[in-house]
Amino acid sequence: MPYETLRIDTEAGVALITIDRQEKRNALNSIVRAELVAALDALRDDDAVRVLVITGAGDKAFVAGADIGEFADRTPLEQRATMTGRRVFDEVAAYSKPVLAMINGFCLGGGCELALACDVRIAADTAKLGQPEINLGIIPGGGGTQRLPRVVGVGQAMRLVLSGEIIDAAEAHRIGLVDVVHPAAELREKTLEFARKMAEKSPVALRMAKSAVRAAGEMPMAAGLAYETELFVTCFASDDKREGVAAFLEKRPAMFTGK
Ligand code: COA
Repeated sequence: MPYETLRIDTEAGVALITIDRQEKRNALNSIVRAELVAALDALRDDDAVRVLVITGAGDKAFVAGADIGEFADRTPLEQRATMTGRRVFDEVAAYSKPVLAMINGFCLGGGCELALACDVRIAADTAKLGQPEINLGIIPGGGGTQRLPRVVGVGQAMRLVLSGEIIDAAEAHRIGLVDVVHPAAELREKTLEFARKMAEKSPVALRMAKSAVRAAGEMPMAAGLAYETELFVTCFASDDKREGVAAFLEKRPAMFTGK
């Protein structure tokens, strides 16, 4: 399917989604948001795709936030209307396959919120991250006030959201906002290599593992442990569990089918 603002390249089980509005630092306008939701739908049932990677076009920005020009003159009711229905941040967080953020530059506002919704954040050493909405007289509205404290703790989230301070990749790594940092020139190769290795795992187990770890941010401990047990036991119903165990015992690589 052709997209106006996205490019999708699929290889070795990995779909690389590139948000391409370079002239606007890949800012999220309504077309990008709608196309991201459509792309997630299209890739969900594609068995050839086991892991998604989201990045921004060019070397300047991952995503420099919501498109400020687009919301500049909106009334509260108009703004609310754009925020009902399916939202890309929630779709990514709840997606049935792992979604990695490959942060290749400015990752601000809605861009940081998009990265926060992803399962792993992998950044170039040149990346810059932050929630600068406070400078516009607004607050994060794409889940940032809720996901950021769950990732970096309340104190660091307060620091970023209340100050609008933009931090570099090393600092983001130190506080846990990004999980891995690579030299900019190696970001793409290293991230895709990591994604391809993940794509060789059992799709069933990947789905269960993501769901179980996500539950840690949403459930009390006892409920989370009970949920983990249910998903663990469910894995025992899969061909992939039989194949993974057999491959280990037979000292050969496993060939997972996702069944
Ligand atoms: N929404 C709309 N347009 C944006 C944008 C955004 N979030 N971020 C950048 N752009 C546009 C700029 O307006 C400019 O457009 P123009 O060439 O038509 O004037 C173009 O992208 C390039 O931006 P520029 O500021 O010249 O690039 P830079 O490399 O000097 O700075 C940023 C990059 C990201 C630091 C800077 O653009 C910025 O601060 N953007 C806003 C970040 C923000 O507040 N995000 C939260 C939004 S809620």
